[in-house]
Amino acid sequence: GLVTTKEMFAKAYNGGYAIGAFNVNNMEIVQGITEAAGELNSPVILQVSKGARAYANHTYLVKLVEAAVQENPQIPIALHLDHGDTFELCKSCIDGGFTSVMIDASSKSFEDNIALTKQVVEYAHAHGVVVEAELGTLAGVEDEVCVEAGHESYTRPEEVEEFVDKTGCDSLAIAIGTSHGAYKFKASQCTRNADGVLVPPPLRFDVLEECIKRLPGFPIVLHGSSSVPQEFVKMVNQYGGNMPDAIGIPEEELRHAAELAVCKINIDSDIRLAMTGNIRKYFAEHPDHFDPRQYLKPARQAVKDMVAHKIQYVLGSAGKA
Ligand code: G3H
Ligand code: 13P
Ligand code: NA
Ligand code: ZN
Repeated sequence: GLVTTKEMFAKAYNGGYAIGAFNVNNMEIVQGITEAAGELNSPVILQVSKGARAYANHTYLVKLVEAAVQENPQIPIALHLDHGDTFELCKSCIDGGFTSVMIDASSKSFEDNIALTKQVVEYAHAHGVVVEAELGTLAGVEDEVCVEAGHESYTRPEEVEEFVDKTGCDSLAIAIGTSHGAYKFKASQCTRNADGVLVPPPLRFDVLEECIKRLPGFPIVLHGSSSVPQEFVKMVNQYGGNMPDAIGIPEEELRHAAELAVCKINIDSDIRLAMTGNIRKYFAEHPDHFDPRQYLKPARQAVKDMVAHKIQYVLGSAGKA
């Protein structure tokens, strides 16, 4: 059924795994994710960004998620607002059927972040909805703010207790070196392996460990956690695309984070890559086809396979419904 993340996170924290939070923008994405989660008996979070709402419309997205809940009654599904940037946007999602919202005031001062987060928490909790907040800034595009790689700021562990105490938020996104999009690191920050493939700098697990120490039992969230599978990047580039040096977070780092207090891992870019790689391939191999169902079917299947892989081999949430 449609639930908050409260119980999911408590179980994930104690069980040493994480819940995947996948961004949804259309029917095929919702179906691909929830078919995988349903078959693997995994709890899942479907998240909607401001941009997704602008693209697909709030009502369509809520109804698609309701359909997925009806089709997969055996698994817990949460409907979450990703990167809410104002009280009004959060309120609109709380009033409109979401079970969880993120207020991302991480680009504001510590005091302003606390004030806005607290305001959202008060409204959300009064309506049975949980709140994710963020401290620290990720590199990449966030909230129409583009932070250049190397100019991100890691979460300061000495601030997390005061932030959580003063805001009452239910989970906290922290910055430990992940970043949004398909180009998470500049080539200059990386080394290259024997095959010429970029190897990213390691995540700051020391920062994560410090945060965990100061917030025992409290669920931590990682944004910008796509792995940017080279299989999809190659497919894009082989069939007419141009994505040189696209790079993500190594799966073994995410697996390690999932074993710790990280309870929610956000994935969007990998969905985009799975769909685009497969649609490009389909078009190249079937230049005469023009029925959208023909190319959206393998795209949806690729999302399902990718999500199934994450659930089983990265998140560890299979069978935890
Ligand atoms: O964090 C950003 C998510 O990938 C959502 O992206 O704002 O383009 O929908 P979007
Ligand atoms: P990716 O771009 O790494 O998929 O991150 C998605 C995200 O953090 C959504 O909030
Ligand atoms: Na975990
Ligand atoms: Zn994010």
